[in-house]
This record gives sequence, C-alpha cells and structure tokens, in this order.
Amino acid sequence: MDEAGTDGRHAVAVSSDGNATDPPESFRESAAVVDPDVYEAFERDWPDAWGRAADLLDWAREPDTVLDDSNPPFYEWFPDGRLNASVNCVDRHLDERRNQLAIRWFGKRGERRSYTYADLHREVNAAAAGLRELGVEEDDVVTLYLPMIPELPVTMLACARIGAPHNVVFAGLSAEALATRIDAADSEYLVTCDGYYRREDAFNQKSRADNAALRIDGELAATVVVDRLGDALEIALGEDEHDYEALLAPHDGETVEPVARDATDLLFVMYTSGTTGRPKGVEHATGGYLSHVAWTTKNVLDVRPDDTYWCAADIGWITGHSYGVYGPLALGTTSLIYEGSPDYPDRERVWDLIERNAVSVFYTSPTAIRSFMKWGAEYPDAHDLSSIRLLGTVGESITPKAWHWYREHVGGGTAPVVDTWWQTETGAIAVATLPGVTPMKPGKVGPPLPGIEAQVVDRDGDPVDPGETGYLTIDRPWPGMLRGLREGAERYRREYWVETDEGWRYRTGDGATVDEDGYVTILGRVDDVINVRAHRFNTAELESAIVAVDGVTEAAVVGDDSGGVVAYVTTQGNVNPDSTLRESVESHVADAVGEVARPDRVVFTPDLPKTRSGKIMRRLLEDIARGEEFGDVSALRNPEVVGEIESTVRGEE
Ligand code: WTA
Repeated sequence: MDEAGTDGRHAVAVSSDGNATDPPESFRESAAVVDPDVYEAFERDWPDAWGRAADLLDWAREPDTVLDDSNPPFYEWFPDGRLNASVNCVDRHLDERRNQLAIRWFGKRGERRSYTYADLHREVNAAAAGLRELGVEEDDVVTLYLPMIPELPVTMLACARIGAPHNVVFAGLSAEALATRIDAADSEYLVTCDGYYRREDAFNQKSRADNAALRIDGELAATVVVDRLGDALEIALGEDEHDYEALLAPHDGETVEPVARDATDLLFVMYTSGTTGRPKGVEHATGGYLSHVAWTTKNVLDVRPDDTYWCAADIGWITGHSYGVYGPLALGTTSLIYEGSPDYPDRERVWDLIERNAVSVFYTSPTAIRSFMKWGAEYPDAHDLSSIRLLGTVGESITPKAWHWYREHVGGGTAPVVDTWWQTETGAIAVATLPGVTPMKPGKVGPPLPGIEAQVVDRDGDPVDPGETGYLTIDRPWPGMLRGLREGAERYRREYWVETDEGWRYRTGDGATVDEDGYVTILGRVDDVINVRAHRFNTAELESAIVAVDGVTEAAVVGDDSGGVVAYVTTQGNVNPDSTLRESVESHVADAVGEVARPDRVVFTPDLPKTRSGKIMRRLLEDIARGEEFGDVSALRNPEVVGEIESTVRGEE
C-alpha cells in the first residue's frame, strides 16, 4: 500500500457488518471529533498532523519539528521542544480551574480526600522540594512503591517537576520483584508506605520494601515512607528513612521552579514482561508520550474538563499512568481514584461511586466487566447511572456478550462502548473507534487510530486477507511509542523491530485478524506473555518460581478464560503431589512475583505435552484449561498424556 493510504483503508466507512452500531446522535452532537475526514487528514499530512496532539500541551519551547526519523528505529518526537509534565498537568490549569477538583480519592475504609488543582499544586511542589532536599537531581530515577493513594500521583508529578524519571512498581508485586526493578533502573530513591488495607487487615508494605532493600545490589540513598495506616501499624524509621509528611511540612507553600525537559527526555520507566523471564524497562519520553496520551484521552475517551472521569486501573501499571494520571490531569478534568476492590464492602460499591460522583466516563477491563456480570445486573440496575456518557475497555478482548451487557446495564443502553487496544510500549491507545465518528462493532476493537499504521501481516510480512490470522504490527512511529528500553539500544531493536522493504516495522507480539472494514480483532499473545487479571507476565517468570519448589520438576502456566492462571506441574517420582505441595507452588509464585499472579489452579500431571523437539505445547494446555476444542495431538512426542491431563482438569470441575 502507498504512503497516502489511497487504498481506502483509512477512510472508515462500514458497510459490510450487520452488527455495527453507530455512535448515538445525542453523543455525536457534542463529541470531541465529529468529522470523519480526520483519518484522511492524518494521512495527507503525516507526520505533521501529530502536531495537533502537541498543540494540546503547553511548551516551554514550542517544537518546530514533529518527527526526526533519521535514525530508525530510534525515533524522536518533537525533538526541539521543551516542556514540563507537571506544569501541563497542574500549573496551567490554575488560572481557569484553581478550585475545581483534580483528584477525588476514595479509600478502602470509606475515607475520602479531595484535591483541587490548587491543592494539587501545593502538594506537588512541597513533594518536589522534599525530594530535592533528599538529594534527588534531574535524571535520578525514583522508585515509587505505593498503593492507590493520592501520594502516588502526587509523587509522580513531583518527580516530573524536577526532571527525575519515576519508576512505579505495582504495590502488589513481591519484595523480589521490587528489588529487581530498583536495581535494573539504577534507582537510589524509594517512596513507599507503612502498609495498606487488604479487605479488613492491615498489610505491612514497609517490611516488604525492607526485604527488597536487603536484596538489591546497589544501595538506597533515601527512602520516604507515607503513613497510610496511622496507628494501625507503627513503623520505626531507620537511618536515611523519612516520614513523607514531615519531609513535606517545611516546604509547604514553596514553589519549585519546574525543570524544562527536552521532549525526548525520559519521563518515566515502567517494567513489563516480554519475551524473556526478566522484565524489560520500557522508557517513555516526555513530549511524545504526553501529547499522545492527551490526544487520545480527549478524542477517544472524549474526556472534557467538566467530566468526572474514572479509570479503574491501578496506577502501578501503564493504564493507570496514562489514563488515571497524565491524560485526565493534562486535560484539566476531575479524576476519580479508588483504592478499594469493586466488591468491598459490597457489590454496590462501584455503582454507588458512579452514582454519587456523577461519573461521566468510566474506563475498565473486561476482567472487571466479567465479574460485574457474574454478580448480576441487579446491582447496577438499582442505581441511577445516567451520568455515564461513555464507557471504555482495555487489556484483553471483550466478548460481544460482555460488550452488550456493559452498554445495557452501565451505559443505559446508549453510551458508546469504546474498546481500546494498546500496550505499555505504545504508551497510549493505538487501535480504537473514535466515538463520535466510527461505528462500533461489539467484540472487535476497531480500526487503527488516525495517524497509526497498524496492520495484520503473515509470517512473510505480507498483509493478510480479511478474516485470516496474522501478527499485529505497526509500520510507522507514533508519538506515544517507547523511546527505548532500559536494557539498551540493541535489546530494543531486537525485541520490537524488523526492517522491511518499506521501512521499519514494530511487532506488537499480538495475534490478530482484520475484517473488510479494517477492524482489528485481537486473538492474544503470540509470545510467552500471559495476561493475568489484566496484569502482564512472562510465563518463565511464574514457571521459574514454581520449579524452585522442592520436588517439582517442570511447570507450564497458561491463562484461563476468566483471566486467571492455571499451573501444570510435574513432580519427581517419589514426591506425592498433595495439598502441601500445591500450597507451596502457589505461595512460591506469590512470593517471587506477587499475589496477583497466584495460580488459581494447580494441576499435577505425570508429564507435560511436548513437541518432538521438546517444546512444551502451551497452546494445547491453554485450550484444555479453557475447555476448548483442540486439534490433532498425534504429532506430539507424548500424545498419551493429553487425555490424562484433560480428565484431571475436567475431574476437578
Ligand atoms: C492485550 C495494557 C485485546 C494485548 C494497556 C496487549 C488487548 C497487551 C487489548 C498489553 C484489547 C490490550 N483487546 N487485547 N482492547 N488491550 N490487550 O502492556 O495482548 O499491560 O499486547 O498494556 O494486552 O498489555 P499491557
């Protein structure tokens, strides 16, 4: 296909699908994008059209160049621009909405805290001054190991203010996982908390951080501890440890001059799983990332300043970074942050929060939607959810059934349901419908966004015909893309890029199909990555924790159809696979990786199905776990084991 996209793939006109649903007229009237020409406009004027994303930001120095692609695949977006992310998310809103809420926070125990933009400005500045006092300088990486409390976005923005990249580690990850990420990021500063509540119980996060500190190769210059639990957990602070409030107090009311960063300077690093057992440090640049995130928050999620917007994802992962913190705050809206679980204290919780806060845009994952469906429509139906204008979903494929349920019971039967595909590496949404323009097709993500050249190709790199299975790739750079990996240029190139006749091609790692209208359907990962309850892990990370258990010989983990993990485990001949061993397998994974990855089922089997070359057939094990049909297994080295595994799995149900 040619550069101009004249084959028509970019003009999204849906003719061939009876299930397509047009955006409702009432929504279209005030949607951010209503002109279908936006697709062509980006093609005509690519890459300069992306300048309109940069125009959503305030720059200390406006960029003259949109894209420097002179050294692919090391692309630089807005390379001569300078900006500060905290200015864009806080300071620039002070004139117009000083007293508007920036953050509405709801704690696990029914606590509430609200921050106006003025409040946020005050605390971000005090935190920035506090971090500086500890010695944090521009380009020092600060690791944040905090649950969903306001101090997390506050310290992220404080880091951004002084040009110190943050390295947020999901609070549910283990001490070991934290230690690996502190070391890999060369980080000498840690912000954590005393603990947090898990349902009724206070959990000691600080002791986990202490364990991590003992394991790291480097040394922490300073640790800041947020007092989340008050009297519930008394923590004695050691040398080089500082109480967050006491650190900030003397700086209350101070203003810290924001550091103007090059657009290509690092805003943050986020570790995620890839093709090997060791997580990779994905690096995001300040200007391109923030532009793309702001553009998609506005034009895909249709968020406006007067919305109360709720992204339910944890800030410890990319979705929470982009759409819980940076996107909504860059646009000056009110972002709801909820610390608790959706069914605590009861199953009314989510609907109650939406109703009371008049949430207008709600963004969550299919995993959560499946739970809501299981609990029953009577819970949302008992609430007035008429404030909802748009619903979003991300993280895995949504079935048409779940899509319709979500729209019917949460979206009042009319709200657009926008399925959004993207990754830690893409930084922001890359494939989705534009809710005021593009028809939705339940179960299909949608066409690539304007300016994004995603396509599905076969093994040889040729685009597949509609309906055929292939690999999802992206052929041109995009502003939110990772600028590199912490592990270096070579690893970055090898991990993601292939050179084709037309140029460089980014490999997403997802299998997909595309239909006649260019709508992409994601089939799942083609590499060794699994998505567990919308969190991303490499199979080897979990499997190496399992084989470390005494008596275990081999392990294979797969995802099941409710977002959980099934571990298939073989034991040494003399070891009895009893409940103690099962418990041991589960707790090893929780300790090594985190509670979120704890296997939902452990299936002991005499052997794992293998190809003749000895490769474990994970796809087959996954089909069994999901209760799906699977093909001919006679080519396996040990086909006899399949029936045995299947009956063990069925027998357990
Ligand atoms: C999967 C999360 C189907 C996909 C933002 C991708 C999806 C991985 C969708 C990235 C979707 C994300 N439909 N699958 N709408 N969105 N995925 O890095 O496999 O945690 O590669 O980023 O999630 O996961 P990550």
